[in-house]
This record gives sequence, structure tokens and C-alpha cells, in this order.
Amino acid sequence: MLIIDGKKVSLDLKNELKASVDKCKTITGNVPGLTIIIVGQDPASQGYVRNKAKTCKEIGMISTVIEMPVETTEKDLIETIEALNHDPAVHGILVQLPLPKQIDEFTATLAVDPSKDVDGFHPENLGRLVMGHLDKCFISCTPYGILELLGRYSIETKGKHCVVVGRSNLVGKAMANLMLQKHEAANCTVTICHSATQNISFYTRQADILIVAIGKAGFITADMVKAGAVVIDVGINRIEDPTAKNGYRLVGDVDYEGVSGVASAMTPVPGGVGPMTIAMLLKNTLLSFQRLNNL
Ligand code: GUN
Repeated sequence: MLIIDGKKVSLDLKNELKASVDKCKTITGNVPGLTIIIVGQDPASQGYVRNKAKTCKEIGMISTVIEMPVETTEKDLIETIEALNHDPAVHGILVQLPLPKQIDEFTATLAVDPSKDVDGFHPENLGRLVMGHLDKCFISCTPYGILELLGRYSIETKGKHCVVVGRSNLVGKAMANLMLQKHEAANCTVTICHSATQNISFYTRQADILIVAIGKAGFITADMVKAGAVVIDVGINRIEDPTAKNGYRLVGDVDYEGVSGVASAMTPVPGGVGPMTIAMLLKNTLLSFQRLNNL
């Protein structure tokens, strides 16, 4: 079985992006800038944000983290976003989700200027993706990272049956629509399964490419997978592990042990999709800089 090594691919990508950032600096005297807003102190979100900011700096971009208190009002958050929309040194704006309950996530998503929406969550970007204008939108980072992995591993996708498990706005909906596009790493027949799907294994067993993003540890077991399928595990679940240094370990939505005996290729957790999400965020920030500077 082939292990699809997202860690390695993301390192290759980061090196490529670093060279592009250097080139931007030579041409314009400036570098791409990403500003991340985090509201509250959720430890998992703080970890993700730290990692995103650190990786940005590693490739020579400017990254700024705005930490807002958990009681921040929707109005205050929108004003902060609008100031960044108008700041020419900011090329990418990311509002880390989830947000505290007094703030409507959709309202916050709508406030980000689509031309700086490096998460690809704004309906204008998702709409452009659905309509196939992939070069005129931001593709959300996790689906984009999966597309990149499939492409770099030369996985045959044209005409294949791709089953996406999960219909979240963050991953499932964009992923399914992306795999539907006439793109060289897509062009699939697509089925979407979700929490109300009856007899889910009937569908998953038909998948040539199975992409799982439902946030349930070990949900997909070997009996749910067709022999030779390519399995992409988007899940990052913390499960208690007293033997681990911090008391937990990360597992995916796929039972790795079992499914690796059936699949032809698979992404591990950690080290699969996760590092690719960050790499594509940097790629989108670079893309935004290039577009805003007419490069
Ligand atoms: N929360 C979990 N994943 C993401 C992501 O990719 N972007 C944002 N903004 N929030 C998240």
C-alpha cells in the first residue's frame, strides 16, 4: 500500500513557495502578508493558528496574528476585518473557526473581501469554484491540498467514482464540487454521504477514491472500503492516551490499521492532509499577492 506523504509534499511545496516569495520581493520590494484573527482561547484553534503563522514566516511571508477576547462582539470583529480589507499590506485574511456563539460565522465570512479570502470560504469564491472558474477564485485549503496530493501522486481520477463522506462548508461541499470539475486531478463521478445517509457502507464500498471528513475517530473501517481504493482521511481527532506526552494523540476518521490492508493508497494522520492545508493557505496568500500586484 502506498502511503500518501502529505508532510513530504508540503515540504516540497514550501520550498517552491519560498522561491516564489523571494521573486516577489525582487520584483516589487514587498512580500505577501497574511493576517489571522483568532477569537477566544480554544487550545486546538490556538495550535492551528501558531502553526499557520510559523509556517508563513518560514517561507519569508509576513504573518500577523490578531487575538481577540472570547467576549468580542460581532460588530467589533467585522470592523477589524474591514480594516484589514483596506490595508494594502494585507494580502490574505483568515478568521479562524469556530467563533464564539455570539458571532455568526456566515456574517464574518461575508465580511472578508473575496480578493483576500485565502480560506476560500466566501460564497463568491465557493460559487466560482462550483462554476468551474478555478483560476479566478480561491479554492479552500483542505480540498485544494487534497487535489494537489492526488495530482503529485499521479492518481488516476478521470471517470472514477469519488465518494465524499461529510458535507461541511469547510471541507465536504467544496471537496465534492472540486472533484466534479473538468480538472486533471478531478473529473470524477461524485457521491456525497452525510450523517443522514442510510446504509453508508453501500456507497463507500463503491468508491475508487474515498475522501472522509466527518470528524469521527476511526469511523471508516476495512469492511466499508473497496479493495484497491485510494483513501483520503481529513479527520483530525484528539483521543485520550495516557501514554502520550500531552495525554492525547491524533487519529483520523479512518481506521488506519484495518483500512491499510484493503486500500491501494492512503493518507496517514498526522502527516497526510493536515500539512497540505497549511501549504495551500500559503499558496493562496502568494496567489493573492500576485493578483493584487498584477504579477
Ligand atoms: N478551523 C478549522 N480549519 C479551519 C480552516 O481551514 N480555516 C479556518 N479559518 N478555520 C478553521
